[in-house]
Amino acid sequence: MCLVQVFVSSMLKLHTTIKQNEKSKSKFTTVSMKPFKVRNIEINPPLILSPMAGVTDYSFRRLIKRRGGIGLTVSEFISVEGLTRNNPKSKRQMRFDPEERPFAVQIFGGQPERMATAAEMAEEGGADILDVNCGCPAPKVVKNGGGSGLLRDLPRLETILKEIKKSISIPLTLKLRTGYSDSTINCVEVAKIAEAVGVEHIQLHGRTKEQGYKGLANWDLVKAIKENVSIPVSGNGDVTSIENALKRFKETGCDGILIGRGAMQNPWIFRQIQDALEGREIYQPSLKEKQAVLLEFFELLREDMPELPAIGKMKQLAGQFTKGLVGGAQFRQTLYHSHSVEEVLDNIGIYFNTLSQGETFGDGLIETDKDLEFDSCDVASNICETTVAV
Ligand SMILES: Cc1cc2nc3c(=O)[nH]c(=O)nc-3n(C[C@H](O)[C@H](O)[C@H](O)COP(=O)(O)O)c2cc1C
Repeated sequence: MCLVQVFVSSMLKLHTTIKQNEKSKSKFTTVSMKPFKVRNIEINPPLILSPMAGVTDYSFRRLIKRRGGIGLTVSEFISVEGLTRNNPKSKRQMRFDPEERPFAVQIFGGQPERMATAAEMAEEGGADILDVNCGCPAPKVVKNGGGSGLLRDLPRLETILKEIKKSISIPLTLKLRTGYSDSTINCVEVAKIAEAVGVEHIQLHGRTKEQGYKGLANWDLVKAIKENVSIPVSGNGDVTSIENALKRFKETGCDGILIGRGAMQNPWIFRQIQDALEGREIYQPSLKEKQAVLLEFFELLREDMPELPAIGKMKQLAGQFTKGLVGGAQFRQTLYHSHSVEEVLDNIGIYFNTLSQGETFGDGLIETDKDLEFDSCDVASNICETTVAV
C-alpha cells in the first residue's frame, strides 16, 4: 500500500471510530445536568453518596469519593442521644476528611433539645450541612420518635426543625421517606412544612416506612415534591445504572440523585453517570483498578480500626462488589473464609492473578442477579455494633 492509501485508510478508520463514539455517547446526552446549590454550597456533580449506617463510614466514603463523580458525602446516621452524651462511637461517626467536602452530618432522634444540641456539635465539628433523618424504619429508632417515626408526628418534626434552625448557621436539609404507610403518604406536605421553616434541600427515598426495602421506590413522588417547593429536591431509590439515573433526572426534573447500595456494587457508578451527563465516553475500570480498589479499601480500614472489624467490613463490601466480577460468587466465598489480613490479601492476589493471566476463576460466571440486598439500616447498625466495636 502506498503512503496515500495508508493515510486515507487510517483517516477512514478514525472517522468510523469517532462516529461510533458519538453514537455511544449520544444515547445518553439528551439529559442536561446542572450542579445545584444548597445555599452557597455547590453540589457538583449533583450526585450524592446516600448515607448507610454501618457502610458509609470514614473509610468507605473516602474510597468512593476518590473514584469521582460525587458532589456530596453524608455521614452514617448518628444518634443524638449518643452524641449529646459524648458516646465515643457517635463522636467517631462525625469524623470526616477535607477530601470529602462538601460533607453533611446526618443526625437522628426525636427530642427537639437534643437534636438542636447535636446539630450545634456537628457545626462545631466542621460539617458543611446538617441533615435530619426522617426515614429510618428501624423499630428502635421509630420507637423513640426518630427516623420515619417523625412522619406520623408532624408538629414534633416542625418543632425539631425550628429548634435546629435556631442553633446552627450551616444549611439544614431533610432526608425522608414518602410516608409512614401506603394510606398515609405525606411527603409533599412534609416537604412544604420543611421549606417553610427554612430547610434548604429535600431528599426523598421513594418508599414508605412500612415498605421497608421491599418493592420499588416511587419516583412520581419526587416529581410531586419538586412541583410543590422551590428549594432543591433530590430523589433516591434503586439507582444502579446510568440509564436509570438519567431516566430519573429526566422524568422527575429532580436537582440531584442519591445512590446508596449501587455504590457498593459499582464504586465508579457516580463517575460513569457524570460522564454520561456531560457527554463523555463512559469510564470503564480495568481489572487492575478493581483489584486496587479492594486493596485500597482494606488499607483504609486497617488504618482506622483493628484487624478483625477491618476484615468484617471487607467481607461486607465483597458481598456486593464481587457480583459484577467473573467467578465473583467463588471469589466472595474465598474472602468470606479468610480470617487474617494475610489470607484476605492472598485471596485477592490469587483471584486477580488468575484472571489477568486469561484463566477463568470458579464457574467463570458473572452473576446475572444483581439484586440490591443488604437492605436495612437496622441490620447494618447491628452489624456495625457487633463487628466494628471501635
Ligand atoms: C445498610 C443500609 C443502611 C442505611 N442507613 C441509612 C442512614 O443511616 N441514613 C439514611 O438516611 N438512610 C439510610 N439508608 C437508606 C439509604 O440511604 C437509601 O435511602 C436507600 O438504601 C435507598 O437507596 P439505594 O436504593 O440507592 O440504596 C440505609 C440503607 C441501607 C441499605
